[in-house]
Amino acid sequence: MAFDRSLKIAPSILSADFANFGAEIQAVEAQGADWIHVDVMDGHFVPNITFGPDTCKAIRPHIKTVMDVHLMISPVDAYIDAFAQAGADFITVHVEAGAHMHRTLQAIRSAGAKAGIALNPGTPASAVAPFMDLVDLVCVMTVNPGFGGQKFIHSCVEKVSDLRLMIGDRPVHIEIDGGVTPETAPLVHAAGADVLVAGSAVFKGGSVVDSAPYGENIRAIKAACKA
Ligand code: DX5
Ligand code: ZN
Repeated sequence: MAFDRSLKIAPSILSADFANFGAEIQAVEAQGADWIHVDVMDGHFVPNITFGPDTCKAIRPHIKTVMDVHLMISPVDAYIDAFAQAGADFITVHVEAGAHMHRTLQAIRSAGAKAGIALNPGTPASAVAPFMDLVDLVCVMTVNPGFGGQKFIHSCVEKVSDLRLMIGDRPVHIEIDGGVTPETAPLVHAAGADVLVAGSAVFKGGSVVDSAPYGENIRAIKAACKA
């Protein structure tokens, strides 16, 4: 997959029907999702538990676009190979989740996946500066991770601009995760973000039997960014 900075919407299956991931993924991709964002939580790094590598492996055949796995787990190193073998295209780890980030990021690439680094809202952009040549994606959390449907933290927008300057010409995506809506998306897109994760804003109002709202919701976010 060639690098490009065009706007991409990555629906988070955290807001999908957990009993129906395969059909949900097929529905949201048919409705225009560019990537599929997969939130892995351990009840330790974040106060919520979702699922692990076996679920990722089970849903992989249903994903035709890009499997973007966001690991909200600590420790993380022992699990990287399992998520890579489950078919993750991107594996994103939190800079706050381990003391040996160079090793962690190198392990992701060695396992054959693209490497992402995420920052919590309280973490400054400078925390990821040492890793710019080791990553393919920087994920700016615009809520404190753990749950869908939280309110966008506006003070994170300036951090996106700082990271865009830091990245320069490197082929590194800027992803935004948390509270993305047609109201907040244009702010971060204008600041330099190209991948917008959206859970509740994409899945609201729809279902696998009535998936048209997924498409309307995706198009509303994209249209707001272009306006
Ligand atoms: C939050 C997760 C997000 C979440 C976003 O901890 O990392 O991916 O699903 O959900 P919304 O878009 O509802 O804020
Ligand atoms: Zn996420």
